[in-house]
Amino acid sequence: MGAKIISGTETAKAIREELKTEVDELRQKHNLVPGLVTILVGEDPASQSYVAAKNKTAHALGIHSEQVTLPADTSEADLLALVDKYNKDAKIHGILVQLPLPKHINEAKVLYAIDPNKDVDGFHPVNVGKMMLGEQCFLPCTPHGVLELLQRSGVETSGAEVVVIGRSNIVGKPVANLMLQKRPGGNATVTLCHTRTKDMDFHTKRADILVVAAGVANMIKGDQVKEGVVVIDVGVNRIGMTESGKAILAGDVEFESVKEKAAAITPVPGGVGPMTITMLMKNTVQSARQHAGLA
Ligand code: GUN
Repeated sequence: MGAKIISGTETAKAIREELKTEVDELRQKHNLVPGLVTILVGEDPASQSYVAAKNKTAHALGIHSEQVTLPADTSEADLLALVDKYNKDAKIHGILVQLPLPKHINEAKVLYAIDPNKDVDGFHPVNVGKMMLGEQCFLPCTPHGVLELLQRSGVETSGAEVVVIGRSNIVGKPVANLMLQKRPGGNATVTLCHTRTKDMDFHTKRADILVVAAGVANMIKGDQVKEGVVVIDVGVNRIGMTESGKAILAGDVEFESVKEKAAAITPVPGGVGPMTITMLMKNTVQSARQHAGLA
């Protein structure tokens, strides 16, 4: 069976068109320009490319974006002072500190310092707690992107056996949480697998929807899934470099073997990645509305 390819690129494009219309309207009717700042500490090439993509997308949508790049030896105190400056900056509605941070900086301390009302990543404990309770908040971008991608591809999650692989705070835990909630894109029966799971294949072979966010290249193979599964591959692994210096990417799912059995599958690149960036833009626009009392 040839799987349907779920294109994050196409879905993200459709959402960005909706957002562009919304941003134009906010500017024309309310003189409001959503503002985003991205803060990158150090020179990690993957982080550099993510941050560049975020700023490029913001710019294309008419969102005001500022990019701050700091040296790897920036002190925690200086970073906290910068976050505080943007907490108070009325032009800025979204603050994103790119992770991971250098080892000498306490990541939690920095994330907690971001005003929860500007936390467009949805990483502040106030937003994590609200998400858990099903309250209105900024949803974390990758999990939110996974839900939107499933919904807009017409995949029914209600009553589905969903298996999530990976328990990170950024992807695995929030995806599992959102998919079990009583909400559109939720209502699934969720199993969360991780490095201590005893029999991974037992779980993956039961999945109607398999979400893989383990950070291990080509970890899931065709013989580990059932016929007709819908596969969302969140992995972005750099497995090499082209002669021209471009990163060669692989997902956590072995695309060629799994696509033979799946009903639908996301590619890497062009799957979840573009959705993550798009949901960040959505959160930034939502934040601008909330700050202006237009929510
Ligand atoms: N590093 C990897 N993914 C993310 C993300 O979604 N947000 C931030 N801030 N850093 C990340």
